Amino acid sequence: MKKIIIANWKMNPASEKEAERLARQIDGEIPRGVEVVIAPPFPFLSPLNQVMKKAKLGAQDVFWENPSAGGGAYTGEVSSSQLKSLGVKYVIVGHSERRALGETENQVNKKVIAVLTAGLKVILCVGEPPAVRRRGLAAAKRFVKQQLSKNLYGIKSYLLNTNRLIVTYEPIWAISSVSGGKSDTPEDAVRMIQFIKRVLKARVKPEAGILYGGSVDAKNAEGFLKHDEIGGALVGGASLKQLEFRKIVRIASKF
Ligand code: PGA
Repeated sequence: MKKIIIANWKMNPASEKEAERLARQIDGEIPRGVEVVIAPPFPFLSPLNQVMKKAKLGAQDVFWENPSAGGGAYTGEVSSSQLKSLGVKYVIVGHSERRALGETENQVNKKVIAVLTAGLKVILCVGEPPAVRRRGLAAAKRFVKQQLSKNLYGIKSYLLNTNRLIVTYEPIWAISSVSGGKSDTPEDAVRMIQFIKRVLKARVKPEAGILYGGSVDAKNAEGFLKHDEIGGALVGGASLKQLEFRKIVRIASKF
């Protein structure tokens, strides 16, 4: 199956012009055999949809109500139906930076349901904080298992089994803004991803991709992506550097 490389631009770049320029560059260099998703800040979604031909559009967050159902009285929020109307195909949900701002497991659950119901693909981020990992691998597994069970609580199997659920293992201690660029090791990421697959097995088709995220760059990408267990990468910092990101995408296309 094609590897998926997701560019999570977070709150970057500074202007629409820069966003369009970077998206054009990335889009013009995508080889066959890899799926590239660019997730810019909300205001750049629509302009990027105009310039991108190969890359898919992703959103970094979503709200769980839709205007028709909820009356739309949610200042500052954006619904999955609105994202869909802009050409969005993937939505990141439960990123640790959103959770750090107060997003609860229950809210993540509602967002996953909203995205799947809208017919979009969800990139659900799970991963333990540094304090949990200091207690060891077993503690990390327990933490992630709990997140998965809460985030996927009550979701009907016909929704989960559409190949539209993509889980990303993103240990918080390996995200570049926390770790200073020190990633997890591929071996550890594989162990955690195998564990996630086992946890999901009863509910989700085995083909469903599980990705790794956290300080992926051009130097370490191959070490992760060469493993069959790792379905791709969620790339933050390195996705804003055209040459660096191009290398990651090329590497992904080889596997
Ligand atoms: P990073 O970010 O690649 O800069 O570590 C990954 C993420 O937070 O999604």
